[in-house]
Amino acid sequence: MYVFTTVDALKAHLHARRQEGKLWGLVPTMGALHEGHLSLVRRSNAENDFTVATLYVNPTQFNNPDDLARYPRTFDADRAMLESAGCQVLFAPTDAEMYPAPTTLRFSFGDLETVMEGQFRPGHFNGVATVVAKLFHHAEPAVAYFGQKDLQQFAVIRRLVQDLAFPLRLVRCPIVREPDGLAMSSRNRRLEPEARKVAAVLSYALREAAEALQKTRNPEAARGLIGQIFYPIEGVFLEYFEVVDAASLQPVTTPEDHDEVALCIAAYVGEVRLIDNLIVTRGGVQ
Ligand code: PAF
Repeated sequence: MYVFTTVDALKAHLHARRQEGKLWGLVPTMGALHEGHLSLVRRSNAENDFTVATLYVNPTQFNNPDDLARYPRTFDADRAMLESAGCQVLFAPTDAEMYPAPTTLRFSFGDLETVMEGQFRPGHFNGVATVVAKLFHHAEPAVAYFGQKDLQQFAVIRRLVQDLAFPLRLVRCPIVREPDGLAMSSRNRRLEPEARKVAAVLSYALREAAEALQKTRNPEAARGLIGQIFYPIEGVFLEYFEVVDAASLQPVTTPEDHDEVALCIAAYVGEVRLIDNLIVTRGGVQ
């Protein structure tokens, strides 16, 4: 695996590969990798000549400085995992390389960022869009792969790609789960043993809510169920549960009028904030 830390070195390498007629997929990450990330790499490898992964803990998307400080940094393990998953190129820049000057650019994603994560993490999507736009420019992929777990991030990046006409295709990849249903996340490693035991309540509650929605076609029934499931559990604080259109992220009242209805949840389990979602389509649940 080639490892580059500067934009110039990355671009020189990719330029040579383009001359050979190769096309590549991009898997942007912030490290602390798990099987979910590796599933993106494998999918990209299967659909492209090779994969470029990026590993950069982007400070501009953290609205909470403690969260940034506590974010796990596990470069050597990440590098080994990427290599074993068949990644061919890793771009791991420094802050100075990514932000040679402080960024002042402000995006507006309208309704996409006033709900859910946007409401609870002000400025987060501005930081995500800034760094993802830079990574698209630096790596010039044919396809970019993101996980469904960050569904709102995917919707924002789709708008970014449309509005700025990035010449690439976006792929949303399924959530990879632990055996008890907990969605894989870099944050899971911060869960204390007791918290880890109850953390699967998020995915359990989502499955129950999805079933209720499919039966009743009434988002309020799903919402009621979530309240009942979370209320008695100690050490878990439900931040939001929303039933939204998976593309527009706006609340859904008549699920049958939407191709994809997303049930989205955020909760603190102990000290750790987790998010998860399920997408209900006419064909089933993803
Ligand atoms: O999903 C992530 O890990 C990050 O938000 C991303 C897309 C790598 C941008 O920093």
